[in-house]
Amino acid sequence: MSESKIDVRNLDLYYGDFHALKSINFTLGRQEVAACIGPSGCGKSTFVRVLNRMNDLIPSCRITGEILIDGENIYGNMDVTELRSRVGMVFQKPNPFNMSVFDNVAYGKRMQGVKNKNTLADIVETSLRKAALWEEVKDRLKKPAAALSGGQQQRLCIARSIAMEPEVILMDEPTSALDPIATGRIEELIGELKKDYSIIIVTHAMHQASRVSDKTAFFLLGDLIEYNDTRTVFTNPRDKRTEDYISGRFG
Ligand SMILES: Nc1ncnc2c1ncn2[C@@H]1O[C@H](COP(=O)(O)OP(=O)(O)O)[C@@H](O)[C@H]1O
Ligand SMILES: [Mg+2]
Repeated sequence: MSESKIDVRNLDLYYGDFHALKSINFTLGRQEVAACIGPSGCGKSTFVRVLNRMNDLIPSCRITGEILIDGENIYGNMDVTELRSRVGMVFQKPNPFNMSVFDNVAYGKRMQGVKNKNTLADIVETSLRKAALWEEVKDRLKKPAAALSGGQQQRLCIARSIAMEPEVILMDEPTSALDPIATGRIEELIGELKKDYSIIIVTHAMHQASRVSDKTAFFLLGDLIEYNDTRTVFTNPRDKRTEDYISGRFG
């Protein structure tokens, strides 16, 4: 088995003529959390999206280089549906499906053909517990997901992703639509989840990156300027541009 969970090698990504990611090299181990930071428009979302082939849907998008998960090229023979179950994604705005709490979490497994009621109930409970949401929703599993608060909806989306038993969870600014209390709960949850998954989180909040991540990647205009242990990036950055960014000189 390969040492790292994710290996990105010389990744270039173009939207038409626009060079959005430039020679990116990045590795992440199991049970590690990486934070992606940098100003808007620098390629952070593009980077996390390419890791589960969300960019496949954009006709102008072209990539070169390699992205390996457990040593396996995700742009090789891997089936996209399989990839998406191995690499889950949580977005900025909570996007629960227009159905009940239970059905949201059961959705993916049902799509895979799981029909047994007890099996589904177990999966839903386990996933909601892991997402630290079970106690709040166990008496309202049949209620519409839309009735939950924003923070609960985001944890529901995390539970929906966990139900697929992913290996990697990608989170693109998962707390930017949430209040500070809901944000704190998601940050605590990330600490719990990293026992089981590799996590990549895009964040605008520097303190969030330093709180939740083991490694930090600083993106600027499509370049991965610096990627290192979070502590090093924040206390002893190697590149002047990283230092300027984290000290708030631009952004
Ligand atoms: N679908 C797309 N087509 C063309 N350009 C895009 C597309 N998506 C993003 N871009 C461009 O790629 C660059 C990086 O965008 P993005 O990855 O969203 O940055 P970030 O998440 O760091 O704000 C930006 O210049 C953006 O305008
Ligand atoms: Mg973005």
